Amino acid sequence: MCGIVGYIGTKEKKEILLDGLQELEYRGYDSAGIAIIEGVKLNNFKAIGKLKNLREKTKNYTSDGFGISIGHTRWATHGKPTELNAHPHLGAYSYVVHNGIIENYQLLKDELKSEGVGFLSQTDTETIVHLFEKYHNKSNKAFEAFEKTITKLEGAYATLLITEAAADTIFFAKNGSPMLIGFDKNEVYFASSDTPIIGKATEVYYLEDGEYGYAKEGKITLFNSDGKKKFTKQALTANKALAQKDGYRFFMEKEIYEQSRIISETMMGRILDDTIALDELDANFFDGISALKICACGTSYHSALTSAYLFERITKIRCDIEIASEFRYKEPLLTDDTLFITISQSGETADTLEALKMAKRAGLRSLSICNVDNSSIVRESDATILTRAGIEKGVASTKAFATQTMVLWILALYIAQERKSISKEILHKEVDAMIHTPKALIVTDTLHEKLHRLSKRYLHGHGFFFIGRDIFFPLALEGALKLKEISYLHAEGYPAGEMKHGPIALADSELFTIALMPKTMHYEKIKSNVEELSARDATILAISPLPFDLADDFIQTKYDSHPMLEFFEMMVVTQLLALEISVRLGNDIDMPRNLAKSVTVE
Ligand code: G6P
Repeated sequence: MCGIVGYIGTKEKKEILLDGLQELEYRGYDSAGIAIIEGVKLNNFKAIGKLKNLREKTKNYTSDGFGISIGHTRWATHGKPTELNAHPHLGAYSYVVHNGIIENYQLLKDELKSEGVGFLSQTDTETIVHLFEKYHNKSNKAFEAFEKTITKLEGAYATLLITEAAADTIFFAKNGSPMLIGFDKNEVYFASSDTPIIGKATEVYYLEDGEYGYAKEGKITLFNSDGKKKFTKQALTANKALAQKDGYRFFMEKEIYEQSRIISETMMGRILDDTIALDELDANFFDGISALKICACGTSYHSALTSAYLFERITKIRCDIEIASEFRYKEPLLTDDTLFITISQSGETADTLEALKMAKRAGLRSLSICNVDNSSIVRESDATILTRAGIEKGVASTKAFATQTMVLWILALYIAQERKSISKEILHKEVDAMIHTPKALIVTDTLHEKLHRLSKRYLHGHGFFFIGRDIFFPLALEGALKLKEISYLHAEGYPAGEMKHGPIALADSELFTIALMPKTMHYEKIKSNVEELSARDATILAISPLPFDLADDFIQTKYDSHPMLEFFEMMVVTQLLALEISVRLGNDIDMPRNLAKSVTVE
């Protein structure tokens, strides 16, 4: 999704902007641009496609001396991904970058047009710069004009504006989309998340919704609706998690391999002998709670679905799962005995964030399960359990899903332990399985090689059905989503027992069925479901610890003592299968078409 970087100071600005945008690249984008003002020298470059195109365009340009600069990666919402629609947008003497959506832009645009303003792009963003110049032309006061501009904007925005009319100042505003300010001596940085400024800035301030102001001479002047505001900076880590590929072909591949190590980090300090500790939660956090409602999008939604089985089975507490974009508009009945849990890798997903705000307005206690500390969802929640997956760069989420599911499993056990609704023996069994999870997540050369060879038989056909029962149904959904995301082949996840109620009509040798057949959970039942498909000539890839004669292809898994161990091991198989099929199809594994890593629009 869109990314913002800004810098004011004497360093070479082009490199700061391009490096910063590179750090945001993994979020997904389709064009990029930068604008720099040095005294009266104004420069603006834009390119569609990857950042290397923008680097190529700017290769003969260097900025020197003091200046102000802004950059942006755009993921198209209003208007096609063209150079004209790429940010920064230009007025007569000012530039703007923006993340989010200006909901009343059409009205503002019509007004401006009727006053004779010409628009170059189809974007909502361009209205900001023209509004600013309209007010500035009247008053000749840059900040006043900026302030007036943002009072006119409705919707979500994080925006930076630079203008020749104040060539030593960057104007900023945040409402609903993330933005932070980094500091190092007299240098000031802006970014839509902290990765672009780690290693550059030493301190940071995360802007709150409704805050705006300007940066000038190394200082920030900050306002909100109450007027001028003091703020406190916090230290920014210098330890940049260098997400290099470490010899792997793709970030996604590296992230699949990392899962075994990372899951130990997720558990660290939380699994102590036979007890579960979650220091993040106050002792009375669950007091008065008799239901759980979990809200998420995409892959995070699948981990939520998995956890519903665990919560009801282990904690005996009712657990409902909601897709955030549906929840927001269904006029949900919310009661304050419900704990509202959001799950989000990025912590910035617009629908999940808004759902959380709704639940808070209804007086619900909130808990987030998130990978990014200080993200909007984390800051909005009463409590957070971090998943500790490290930066995930592949757009198709893998290790985030594994760590979210692990945190939810831990949480289910924790609640049961605190409420004394789990016996010592069962808790011991669960903890024992948990401790073995890192092993179940190891990718062996044999497994990877087998999936590589087998993948060549799955490049055509009229579709994939991933089928499973119980927690293996959400895993089937997730397996199908992974395959769709990066192979662009049609895949569905389905409850195995439901196939006979319709989808079985599709069965023929060109229908590929990926059957998740755990030994520890309803094996006989799923076996008959797969037999029904086999009898109709569907091509079957069975994943199971138990040999299955009717399979056309068979991946034998090892861990068969606990459903969650089977779950994690099978998860890796489905991830590698999607990867290998998509590599053979020649697709962009880390940045699949049309997708964004962090979806900060509704
Ligand atoms: C996007 C990403 C998915 C992700 C979903 C929810 O669609 O491409 O991988 O699952 O957003 O994101 P979140 O950051 O809230 O988990």
